[in-house]
Amino acid sequence: MSLSLLATSTVPSSSLLNVNPLRSNTKNRSTVRVGKKVAYTSCEQKQSNEGDSHTIDRRNVLLGLGGLYGASATIGSQGKIAMGAPVAPPDLSKCQLATDAANGEQVYCCPPYSSADIKPFVPPNDGILRKRKPAHKLNRKEIEDFKRGIQLMKELPETDPWSYYQQATIHCTYCNGAFDQVGFEDVLLQIHGSWLFTPWHRYYIYFWEKILGKLLKDPTFAIPYWSWDTPEGMYMPGMYLDRNSPLYDDNRNHNHFTALMDYDFTWGAPNPTPEQEEEVKIRNLKKIHNMFTETIGAPSLFLGGPLSAGQVPQDIAGALENQHGLPHQWTGPEAIPRHDMGNFYTAARDTMFFGHHANVDRLWDIYSDLRGNKVEFDNPDWLDASFIFYDENRQVVNCKVRNLFLVIYLRIFVLITCNTYSGIHSFSICL
Ligand code: C2O
Repeated sequence: MSLSLLATSTVPSSSLLNVNPLRSNTKNRSTVRVGKKVAYTSCEQKQSNEGDSHTIDRRNVLLGLGGLYGASATIGSQGKIAMGAPVAPPDLSKCQLATDAANGEQVYCCPPYSSADIKPFVPPNDGILRKRKPAHKLNRKEIEDFKRGIQLMKELPETDPWSYYQQATIHCTYCNGAFDQVGFEDVLLQIHGSWLFTPWHRYYIYFWEKILGKLLKDPTFAIPYWSWDTPEGMYMPGMYLDRNSPLYDDNRNHNHFTALMDYDFTWGAPNPTPEQEEEVKIRNLKKIHNMFTETIGAPSLFLGGPLSAGQVPQDIAGALENQHGLPHQWTGPEAIPRHDMGNFYTAARDTMFFGHHANVDRLWDIYSDLRGNKVEFDNPDWLDASFIFYDENRQVVNCKVRNLFLVIYLRIFVLITCNTYSGIHSFSICL
């Protein structure tokens, strides 16, 4: 079962076209069975209630996520009880076609290897510090280096696990149903919609960053983050807009190229006018503020609800995941299938994805910081959940969630402002 396996050819395409799948009312949800697997339509979105900035706001879920997973498969196909074991990495030999949530098309998202000598991930202890800076603050040389790294990645053969294409495909692998959960043939591996969301993406961009560092021969290379939670970052960072740059992706909403991101945007609506900008920024900031303050005592509200081995994800995304859906939707084009950024299958084909997720990573850091850096879930089903990635040493590694906490793995977020903005504390980390 996958959050993103949402439609197949058995779903009338009109069900996708008549509704905005990210904005329709939850009561329109329905489920569709695909073989043994339960899929669902993407009609999961709660209608936007203006002024509503709740932490469980599900408006911002990505196309392919969120929804409804009609079945309550708490028992796997082999009858195993689902609770009480962490989600395991996929069995590489059992990759299957994935599904583009927007149109039900079958897509190939398998890794370019079907077996591997998998080693445990060992966090680095080389003492090298990588400083992630906000994208809009990069200097010319830093932008050029970043472009060069992306260019090198794009020049690798598509079969190379380091290549831009394969790196982007990893997102589809874990989000669109390329694998069943090991031991549960009817439960697809899905890392959205639960507490797996933040650790999985942290690892994902970590390896992407390290691979770029290898290609650039610069182990200090750090992903520039898109600080869309701060007033100055609520625009597409300029470096992504140069059409001649490897950072450019034409599959974006061209109406938003220089616009202020309104967290309450709806497709087709005009961008904020210069007179409205201040008010929109303040409204956005309040949402970020609430995202932290309303969840501070309950990590599952911020990071997502539990998911153990064999459990069908129940769309218990946390406030951070929900909020992060907005820049995805706002960046991707308006027309379905919303490739690239507005669709799980393709989101990571846009380099902005990684800057966006570096910011998600940073917001998690801020949250942890606010809570005194206590591990959010002292639960082996979270801490021992594991994923596999192809690392910067061309090794397939098994990465446990707990390893994210055993070490400081040497990356920090630089800047922004610690000040309040119109009286709203923005929660940025000051370094
Ligand atoms: Cu895996 Cu931003 O989504």
